[in-house]
Amino acid sequence: MKQRRYGFVVVANRLPLDRTTDERGEQCWTRSPGGLVSALEPIARSAGGAWVGWTGSPDDATEPFEADGVYLRTVPLSGEEVDRYYEGQSNSTIWPLFHHAVEQPTHRREWRVAYEAVNRRFAEAAAEVADDGATVWVHDYQLLRLPQLLRDLRPDLRIGFFLHIPFPPVELFMQLPRRAELLRGLLGADLVGFQQPLAAQNFLRLTAELLGLQPHGEQVEHQGRTVTARAFPISIDVSEIDQMAADPEVQAEARQLRRELGGDRRLVLGVDRLDYTKGIEQRIEAYGELLADGTVSNDEAVLVQVATPSRQRVAQYQQLRERVEREVGRINGQFGDVGRVPVQYLFQSRSREELVALYLAADVMLVTPLRDGMNLVAKEYVAARRDEGGALVLSEFTGAADELHGAFLINPYDVEELKRGISTAMRADPEELTGRMRRMREQVREHDVDHWAQAFLRALGRPALRTA
Ligand code: ADP
Ligand code: F6P
Repeated sequence: MKQRRYGFVVVANRLPLDRTTDERGEQCWTRSPGGLVSALEPIARSAGGAWVGWTGSPDDATEPFEADGVYLRTVPLSGEEVDRYYEGQSNSTIWPLFHHAVEQPTHRREWRVAYEAVNRRFAEAAAEVADDGATVWVHDYQLLRLPQLLRDLRPDLRIGFFLHIPFPPVELFMQLPRRAELLRGLLGADLVGFQQPLAAQNFLRLTAELLGLQPHGEQVEHQGRTVTARAFPISIDVSEIDQMAADPEVQAEARQLRRELGGDRRLVLGVDRLDYTKGIEQRIEAYGELLADGTVSNDEAVLVQVATPSRQRVAQYQQLRERVEREVGRINGQFGDVGRVPVQYLFQSRSREELVALYLAADVMLVTPLRDGMNLVAKEYVAARRDEGGALVLSEFTGAADELHGAFLINPYDVEELKRGISTAMRADPEELTGRMRRMREQVREHDVDHWAQAFLRALGRPALRTA
């Protein structure tokens, strides 16, 4: 059968749907984890077109299929490719390095070779489904080589690339073996988007230092083409969260959660993938110190930490899980009572509705990454608070801190500051909190994910996308 071709193609490591195994051992499809899918899924659904990606399981030969009006072009990965391209080069080399080496990056030749081969396979799949002159939007650090490989195959395409995570300073990028190849990969795009202006500047500076190019303003000439680098801070589907927060069932669940956690206790909440960049350990440690020095008591407050399992075969993630669980056990053992513990830790993924109920119930939301490109959880919390209540404690090392000026900003490396941030937010005057939340809600409402996608695609020269 002849392959259907599309005018708009998204390419990302993962498809929006993840193939998982449920409690009864049966295969099922669930929404894929992480901010990339949260942001892009509503855009792809309303724009139509194709999405090229992996199902999340090794050796999965699922044929391409259509879901919610989007053609999902599966790219199968073998077990060895998952080891080397996904867990190795993507998540043990590039991920830690791009997050300012908060964990030590590992460099292996066979990982790099697999990364190149898988990027080529994704490029071939994109070239196959893209119509003549189509717009192809490539995403994230797993596919840094892809824009160039795709351009070699299909010079007719308009290619955009968006990096969801930070882009490191030149000095750090220089550590990467074959660093120039990676940079040339990105230069295959017409437009390279970043979360923050500093990231775009790092990229442009690198083109000068590494390749001797001469960037001018936000543009650089490469092989007779102009490449633009600019910040496009990503956001969330505000109306989706708002609708859920307005749902009487979700509101009832929020009330019930509060009752179950102990009526008048203040609810302090963390929601993250279990990742060492998220500062979960530092946050739990700070909360433990607040209990130890008597600033907060077990009767007065409870910390609920929901941590989605993530990249569980990577050693650094396994070690993090052990450390977090040990610390939660220690704190609960030391400061808990029968039937009432200070830290409720859930190593689970929860539905969107359940997360919104938690956001509605939480007096204080803790978003304390050591480094994060944006952090959508912070924006989701704000979007859910139709009551203009609640307080956000936010790390200054997130992209979200550039926008959410009503948050209590903290340096997560400074445990005293983190403690002060938590206790100040817990005890702040409700009127002050309303003012802060109102400002943040305005910002998020005016800059939602549709605004982000339109701005990117307009800059790429494809303004007429039918979204929202
Ligand atoms: P990242 O992309 O690094 O995972 P973000 O904060 O930008 O971080 O995005 C995380 C996304 O995953 C959000 O949309 C959030 O709602 C979702 N998420 C985080 N934790 C959970 C969880 N425990 N269960 C379900 N979804 C989660
Ligand atoms: O940018 C954040 C991100 O790394 C996405 O690229 C990714 O889809 C998501 O987090 C979840 O991570 P993973 O796909 O490795 O489970």
